Amino acid sequence: MKLIQGKTVINKYREHTVTVDLKDRSYDIQIGEGNISRLPVYLENLVTNRQVAIIAPPPVADLYLDSVSACFGNNWNVQKLIIADGETSKTQDAVSAVYTWLLENHFERGATIIPLGGGVTGDMAGFVAATYLRGINLVHVPTSLLAQVDSSIGGKVGINHPLGKNLIGAFYQPRLVLTDINFLKTLNDDEYYCGLGEVIKYGILSPAGIFEKLENNLNEIKNKNISVLSDIVHDCIQIKAEIVKNDEKEAGIRAFLNLGHTYAHAFETDFKYAGLKHGQAVILGIRCAVAVSRKLKLIPDSDAIRIESLLDEFNIHLPRSKKSDRAELLAIMKRDKKTRAGSINLVLPRKIGEVTVMPVTDESLILESFAAVGL
Ligand SMILES: NC(=O)c1ccc[n+]([C@@H]2O[C@H](COP(=O)([O-])OP(=O)(O)OC[C@H]3O[C@@H](n4cnc5c(N)ncnc54)[C@H](O)[C@@H]3O)[C@@H](O)[C@H]2O)c1
Repeated sequence: MKLIQGKTVINKYREHTVTVDLKDRSYDIQIGEGNISRLPVYLENLVTNRQVAIIAPPPVADLYLDSVSACFGNNWNVQKLIIADGETSKTQDAVSAVYTWLLENHFERGATIIPLGGGVTGDMAGFVAATYLRGINLVHVPTSLLAQVDSSIGGKVGINHPLGKNLIGAFYQPRLVLTDINFLKTLNDDEYYCGLGEVIKYGILSPAGIFEKLENNLNEIKNKNISVLSDIVHDCIQIKAEIVKNDEKEAGIRAFLNLGHTYAHAFETDFKYAGLKHGQAVILGIRCAVAVSRKLKLIPDSDAIRIESLLDEFNIHLPRSKKSDRAELLAIMKRDKKTRAGSINLVLPRKIGEVTVMPVTDESLILESFAAVGL
């Protein structure tokens, strides 16, 4: 996979621009350090209507909601909404409450929704933006590592259903993504390590050298060194932008981004979206996928060991609050969106830098792979 060239601007925000090239729906991802103050400048060039709804969960709102809305001058009509934190806000009831608030506050077709927060806020408020008045402007301001490297790019928005994760949703591209690496300074370690799960995923699926950067800068990464992080976040964004450009609707290579995710969604559904975070579930899912690759002799042992060693560094385990059942997890996986004609499609590593998508019909392979996470 050839990486697209980003545009780098040497300014005090150390900004880089990566463009997601989708013809008339193309948009820029502005990556920088402290560049949140430039949000109104970028927005001004994109919209004519100056109605803006900034939507954030309490932890992010407490830290940033006032300062972000203060970036906008008096010639903007900025309204703020605080939603519940965590997966509980990815529900039909929560979405409905946001519709009501937008209607009561007379938000029009040309207005802009800005989810300020992690992937949950982006998915849920993005789904609202996609459906309110048949679609209004969406500008992501991702504040978690996971949202910066993954969920804010590519247009997947949606909510959960009691029967499964992310089952209700749409493809709806934002007009802009503003990624300020400085937000990561206040992310707690658990959430930060969750985001690293997605970063490791990019390291495994792309030959762009992210895996080696992770191996070679482990201490800097564990200590949230902003300059190392900036570099790695930028690499991940470029990979995702390139994948989305080539396969917006996930008919082909975009499926590679689901490495570890079919398992992850099963773990999250099994834990009823509580007690196990998405990024943690992804790390566990990657462990299981590596176990299947090993069993099928798809991956050289040396690469499998390197992946397992890197994952060990982040010390993520299934919570002990519930004893998960292999057969029940398998049943959840069969309900996954990616299941086709009854066989579970898994993204499996072939080596560091290459994955493949494979229908797995032998269920015993999957059942045995749960041993990789202690089940
Ligand atoms: N749309 C996609 O393509 C896509 C891709 C991957 C994941 N997802 C979704 O993303 C969600 C997970 O996202 P997440 O890991 O960001 O979880 P999250 O949105 O729940 O955020 C994690 C926690 O960190 C807090 N937080 C966020 N930024 C902060 C900051 N800068 N400082 C302090 N606290 C901060 C949040 O309030 C929350 O408590 C899942 O629902 C998953 O399904 C979507």
